[in-house]
Amino acid sequence: QPRTPSDARNSLPTGPLPVERTRRLRSTSALRSLVREHTLRPADLVLPMFVAEDLTGGDSRPITSMPGVAQHSLDSLARTATEAVERGVGGIMLFGVPTEKDAIGSGATDPDGVLNQGLARLRAELGDDTVVMADLCLDEFTDHGHCGVLDADGRVDNDATLERYRDMAVAQAEAGAHLVGPSGMMDGQIAAIRDALDVTGHEDTVVYAYTAKYASAFFGPFREAVDSSLVGDRRTYQQDPANGREALRELELDVAEGADLVMVKPGMPYLDVLKEVSQASPVPVGAYQVSGEYAMIEAAAANGWLDRERTILESLLAFRRAGASTVLTYHASEVAGWFRDGLPEGLREFL
Ligand code: PBG
Repeated sequence: QPRTPSDARNSLPTGPLPVERTRRLRSTSALRSLVREHTLRPADLVLPMFVAEDLTGGDSRPITSMPGVAQHSLDSLARTATEAVERGVGGIMLFGVPTEKDAIGSGATDPDGVLNQGLARLRAELGDDTVVMADLCLDEFTDHGHCGVLDADGRVDNDATLERYRDMAVAQAEAGAHLVGPSGMMDGQIAAIRDALDVTGHEDTVVYAYTAKYASAFFGPFREAVDSSLVGDRRTYQQDPANGREALRELELDVAEGADLVMVKPGMPYLDVLKEVSQASPVPVGAYQVSGEYAMIEAAAANGWLDRERTILESLLAFRRAGASTVLTYHASEVAGWFRDGLPEGLREFL
């Protein structure tokens, strides 16, 4: 019996040798590179950002549960977004944090509301160099924190909410958004928004539907990011994490209603859904690596439990492998910077 590695090399084989050797193509970096199926580009990545009404000058306010991510003033937003765009990110998805909230989310449709002001500022600053995207949802603007308006019994009123979404879409397009991203999971929202945009002359505004969006604990840190006042949960409108099939039904409906792009969200816990949606979808598919996924990577890396850069790249490549053309990630600007400035030797082949 061989006792050491060199004994093992020198001893004659005692059984059949492998006929297939899959390790062959893994044996050098050049071979691995030659056969690599998926890659990342900065233009694949979209950076979600937060603009807060109470911040002025160049101020920003760190979000504790998302180390490295902050709420921005208009100036800080413009500066940070410009830096990301110079690194080549494909888009900026903007969320607003208003000072005043009310039952119908008035700030969402006010041209002077913080989100619309932020969109106007981004568009003025960036022109068409990147895709300026608007989160189209009422939860940041309502005092009860739900994604829609409530009826007399306190339930989210689907059809009354559609009226608010129509107005919000038009306000966002008028502020300069190239794309609106309805994330409220109301029935008929894509058709309502498409119609509102078309009848007001915004037929070129893109609708990026949050198609399969789950009632997820992974949105936790986002609540801090937008100072959410939500009590309770979103299970009457967001999907049940136990279900896969209804994602395909949502896809069919959103495409029929006019979605240009569809999204699966969260990302990593729903890679199976992403794969199925991407196989079935006639339109491009995106994934959203949400706040909780970001927080997990950062927390583990801060403890030295994960190699931060490798984990980030691997998680983003997983979305590409599962079929995403575009990925929303809070790491977008940093990762795009790696393309320009280079990564440590061992990681270069990921790019
Ligand atoms: C709704 C919206 C949410 C997120 C994006 N859009 C919150 C929610 O649905 O509860 C979460 C994003 C994240 O967690 O990173 N406006």
